[in-house]
Order: sequence, then C-alpha cells, then structure tokens
Amino acid sequence: MKALLIWAVLLNFYKLPKTGDCASTHDQVLSIQVTTHQQADIVKNISSQYETVLWSPTSPEYIGAHTEVHLFVPANKLGTVTDLLQTHHLTHQVLLDNTEELIEMQTRNESSDPRSSASYYERYHSLEDIYYWINKTAQDYPDMVKVTLIGSSYEKRPLYVLKLSGRQERAEKRAIWIDCGIHAREWISPAFCLWFVQYSLNFYNLNNDITEMLNSMDIYVLPVMNPDGYKYTWTTNRMWRKNRSMSKESNCVGTDLNRNFDANWCTKGASNRPCDEIYCGQFPESEPEAEAVANFLRSHKDSVKLYLSIHSYGQMLLFPYSCSNEEVPNHAELFELVQEAAMKVRRYYRNNYKYGASAKTIYLAPGGSDDWAYNLGIHYSFTFELEDRGRYGFLLPPSLISKACNEALLALKSIALRVIQKTQPQP
Ligand code: ARG
Ligand code: ZN
Repeated sequence: MKALLIWAVLLNFYKLPKTGDCASTHDQVLSIQVTTHQQADIVKNISSQYETVLWSPTSPEYIGAHTEVHLFVPANKLGTVTDLLQTHHLTHQVLLDNTEELIEMQTRNESSDPRSSASYYERYHSLEDIYYWINKTAQDYPDMVKVTLIGSSYEKRPLYVLKLSGRQERAEKRAIWIDCGIHAREWISPAFCLWFVQYSLNFYNLNNDITEMLNSMDIYVLPVMNPDGYKYTWTTNRMWRKNRSMSKESNCVGTDLNRNFDANWCTKGASNRPCDEIYCGQFPESEPEAEAVANFLRSHKDSVKLYLSIHSYGQMLLFPYSCSNEEVPNHAELFELVQEAAMKVRRYYRNNYKYGASAKTIYLAPGGSDDWAYNLGIHYSFTFELEDRGRYGFLLPPSLISKACNEALLALKSIALRVIQKTQPQP
C-alpha cells in the first residue's frame, strides 16, 4: 500500500511541467492574440513545432498580424510554449484546460439502447455505429431511403450515400447533395448529417418545409466522407484532419480532401508538402474519397441544383469562391440566400453566423469541393461552418449538439426552399 502511494506521488511529480510555474498537467487549448508581424512569425514557428495542433486558423500561413490563434498544446509542452509566448509579449487565455475530459464526454455512450431513443442524435457515434445506423435507417424507411455505394476510402472503407425521397412521384426530380465529415476532427458534421436524415424522415408530412423539400427534390446525404480519418480520431488522434493516404515521397500521412478538388488546385492557400494540414495531394482527385464524390456529382450534375458541405467550427455560411478573390456571377443572389439564412438563425436561436464569399470571409482555400461543384454547374453551392466560435471548437460537448444542428437545419431549409423556387422547371 505504502509503496503504491509513493509510486503515485512519484508519477505525479514527473508529470509536473519543468518550466512555467502555473502550467497545467492537462493538455490545453490556448487562445493567443497576435498583434504584430513579428509575433505572427513566433506563433507560426510554435505551431509547427512542439507537437502542438493548430485549431484555428487551419494553417500557419494564415497567421498574420491581428489574428486570434487557437492552439492545442499537449501537457508536456505547455511550459515551453507559455514561456515562449511570455518572452515575446504574446497574451493568451486558456480556452480549454480539460480536453481529456471533454474527449471522454464526446466518446461516452452509456445508453445501451440505441437508435430508437431521441438522445441517439445528441451523442457522437463511432464509425461502426454510423454504418449500422445507415443500414437500420434504410430498413426502417424502405419507401423513402435508398443506400448507394459511391466508392471506397483509401483504406477501403465503403462510402455510402443515402438518397431521401418523398412519397410523391414527380417527373424529372431535382436534387440536393449534402456531405459531412470531409475533415475528420469536425465531429459535429457527421452528427449533423444523422440529425438531418432523422429529422427529414420523422417530419415528412408533418412539417411543411421538409415535406415540400422532399416532394420537390431528392436529397443525397454522405454522412462520413472521410471514414479513415474519422476512425483515426476515435482510436488514435482526436485532432486529425486529413484522410489517411500514404505518400511515396514522405513519411507523413494524409491529404486534405478539401484541397484535393480541381478548382485552382494547389495554388495559394494549399500546400504541396505532405506533412502539412492543407496538403493538396499528388494531383486533383488523387484521393479516392474526393474522386468518388466528384464522379457521383459529374454523373448527377443535371439534377443536383444545390451542393452543401458541412464543416466546423466558426459559425459561417460560405459560398464560392474559396479558390480566388473573384466574385462568382451570381454573387449577389448567393449573398442574399446566406444573409436571409443567417438572419433567421439570429432571430430564432440568438446566434450570429458570419456569411459571404469564402475567400473574403475566411481565407483563400483552393481545391475545395464547393468551388469545384460550382464550376461543374451547381450554382447554388455552400459550405457551412457549424458551432461554435472557439469556446469548445472541435470538442463541442454532446449537450450542445441539438442547438448546433437545429440552427444549421434552419439555415439549410431556408436556402433549400429558395433554391426550389428558383429552379422550378418551366412547364
Ligand atoms: N474551413 C474549411 C477549410 O479550410 C472550409 C473553407 C471554405 N471552403 C473551401 N472550399 N475551402 O477547408
Ligand atoms: Zn473542415
């Protein structure tokens, strides 16, 4: 017993950080206020070393003067990192000091039963659970759901798309595409896809908006576009973003699927270095996940009128271009759509979403699926960044899933109903 106690004390002693007097023994997420270019360089440097993970912005190259940086720092590097910040007069706050606890909360699944209970949708689910859910949903609603395999991931996991249809037959049905989980660590995104499917099926013929949507459009939903990455965030590294493909010329793993599409591919805002978070891959659609989505959309481009890609975090409703500062021809129209949607979210949920053309609202990000879909001819193309603004970031607790999903659903319905009006087939 005594020996055990001594052991415990010793263990804790060694866990204490070597420097920085009040540093925590937990991994933390810091919010760092950068004000000068020189400070920007320091933070860029820190964020590419010391096993830290940049949460926001996505890549060090986006850090400039006057940037708020969110940085995940493992416990054993906290002392070093906070000392460096102090030395360079960088102020910071601790956003999260309990990341282990939050991760535990996000992965907890106490309810033994499943899918029937409403709370199923207020939890996060492992990849296996989601595959099971896809199957079960298709079985439970055979007249409204069809499942199609559109391809497979680098590690050969299936990419299933659910096609939701109303019970009304209409000739020449238009369609909506929604993908979730391009980026592995953005767990609220797949949770939204599940939420959306369940809401659509439950409220068809009960809620006018959803009935109208499903009667006029088929809705294709890809709940997890990056299954290998998603799996990896559950088993190995919660902070993983990219897919899990190996490159020949480097030991680093993964391509950013949202830089792998053929829209000004690998220009400024993407990286050709395999170790970077925004690595664009070897060539456009080099990644099987991006290729599968692109192939599907190419073969459905006449029917798909609305493209929607779900990410987190940041609370933004974005439209093309991301890959250039140019305005798209229907910029004003798209602006009106996101403005109206954001206004509704503000009114009903008292929450503010930023909105606008992506390159101007966040940063240049070429090779994105939304821009590519736009150039394919899907002129209503959007990327949503769901909650929150950084309070919890990727570690949004399960108790906040319902609000995040409900407000995104409201925005989606608002945009979709407008697009339905705008694309009415001429008799
Ligand atoms: N934050 C996301 C990213 O860095 C989305 C950016 C907006 N859209 C885009 N196509 N890049 O990928
Ligand atoms: Zn993302």
